[in-house]
Amino acid sequence: MKILLDTLAEADLADCHALFVDAVHALGRRHYRPEQCAAWAPPGAMPDAWRDGWARRLARAWGVKALADDGRLAGFAWLLFDGEFDMLYVAPWAAGRGVGSRLVGALLYEGRRAGLAALTVYASHGARPLFERAGFVVERDHLAWRDGVALENWIMRASLAEPGRAAR
Ligand SMILES: CC(C)(COP(=O)(O)OP(=O)(O)OC[C@H]1O[C@@H](n2cnc3c(N)ncnc32)[C@H](O)[C@@H]1OP(=O)(O)O)[C@@H](O)C(=O)NCCC(=O)NCCS
Repeated sequence: MKILLDTLAEADLADCHALFVDAVHALGRRHYRPEQCAAWAPPGAMPDAWRDGWARRLARAWGVKALADDGRLAGFAWLLFDGEFDMLYVAPWAAGRGVGSRLVGALLYEGRRAGLAALTVYASHGARPLFERAGFVVERDHLAWRDGVALENWIMRASLAEPGRAAR
């Protein structure tokens, strides 16, 4: 199956939310307990407050989506203009084929082109190896609190100033 990358738009956010819930509950569960997955991505329709919050964040970010040749959304990601990698999710049926790495690579290109010196990410356990391959290094561990539930993740950083440190 061919996967193509395209610009992510606000109109894609409802599909992104459905993919996000699927990804967390099918892939995130390899590293997080069910109650952690439920707090991270509450199942069900996208609440209006989330829609508004995601739209506001995407408006100040480079966003990219991965589409299969049959039109299905295979993944999405966005990088805030201030250099924080805010979103990275891949559909369970598309996982493990390099889609996440391609999304990260496309956004690294945007960050570098805009002249950012460094990027940061709060990486999940599952995403840490992918970000390491892309040139990010772990600064420290971190706890993100969602609905009173703690989720362990990793604060990682990539320097774009040194050529070759962060892979395209
Ligand atoms: C983390 C996540 C985005 C990774 O997406 P992905 O598309 O599966 O990522 P990749 O395919 O690029 O890499 C995943 C694995 O596939 C393997 N892989 C990469 N390219 C491949 C290819 N062309 N063929 C076969 N396998 C491949 C890699 O070895 C990698 O293994 P590792 O990371 O365990 O070392 C996805 O699992 C996800 O959405 N998880 C739930 C939510 C989450 O944790 N999001 C990140 C928040 S920071």
